[in-house]
Amino acid sequence: MQRYGLIGRKLGHSFSKDHFTKVFAKVGLKDHLYDLFELAEISDFPDLLKNNLELQGLNVTIPYKEDVIPYLDELDPLAAAVGAVNTIVIKNGRTKGYNTDVAGFRSLIGPMAIDLRDKGSDVKARALVLGSGGASRAVAFVLREMGIRFRIVSRSRERGDLTWDLIDPTILRVCRLIINTTPLGMQPDVKDAPPLPYAALTAKHALIDLVYNPEETVFLRQGKEQGAKTVGGLGMLNAQADEAWKIWQEAAK
Ligand SMILES: NC(=O)c1ccc[n+]([C@@H]2O[C@H](COP(=O)([O-])OP(=O)(O)OC[C@H]3O[C@@H](n4cnc5c(N)ncnc54)[C@H](OP(=O)(O)O)[C@@H]3O)[C@@H](O)[C@H]2O)c1
Repeated sequence: MQRYGLIGRKLGHSFSKDHFTKVFAKVGLKDHLYDLFELAEISDFPDLLKNNLELQGLNVTIPYKEDVIPYLDELDPLAAAVGAVNTIVIKNGRTKGYNTDVAGFRSLIGPMAIDLRDKGSDVKARALVLGSGGASRAVAFVLREMGIRFRIVSRSRERGDLTWDLIDPTILRVCRLIINTTPLGMQPDVKDAPPLPYAALTAKHALIDLVYNPEETVFLRQGKEQGAKTVGGLGMLNAQADEAWKIWQEAAK
């Protein structure tokens, strides 16, 4: 029996069990299982490992991608650079953390071929990253890699560059790529959306939502209504899960 799973606080929204159960069935792995493990606190993580010695790998979701790090024996260099873990390998009683959200976000933003330069100008527009959690760290890593300057919007002054009350039409004129890494708009609270002055968006803006359920969030719909280019989180979700599966297969060799 090879057992994998997902840890997070509330997992009703999770796509992973269905996704990996289908992956295992497709390649005929009848002895592979994928389970959901809701942890009220990350301090419950060591007990989860002790009580499930057959676990070979875990995914990590909201809100534990950063908090799980002190509980791991080792970090892959990319996960260490990002400061967030969404995939864990458990082998010979040791745990190693990886980050596959980076690969997922690269595969989402790459094909968008976003050009933030105005015609006749060398000055590049900037990005706004909404939220400062685990996924935000992976997004920030990729934006730095691409040379896109950005500001992080947070509820807390300490964790971000801007708080929400400061986001006005002037800032949206400068920041034409907006990436939602908060859970706002996710099932079951599908009517929620990041509080932005949406009327200031234009056809020169691009909006990316990491939320994948629903496929089109209120955030994306409002952007589309202003003519902005929009992309949801489903492509990234599949890409980061494929990458996690590659890591687990490699570790099982
Ligand atoms: N498509 C994909 O492959 C993919 C991959 C990763 C994550 N996601 C999605 O991205 C979202 C975030 O995941 P995560 O793992 O990064 O979670 P996380 O570590 O908990 O971070 C979420 C961040 O969003 C902000 N936030 C939370 N509640 C908020 C609220 N009510 N109002 C405003 N801001 C709020 C917080 O930032 P501040 O404290 O700074 O305000 C928080 O740190 C989830 O919906 C998840 O499903 C999708």
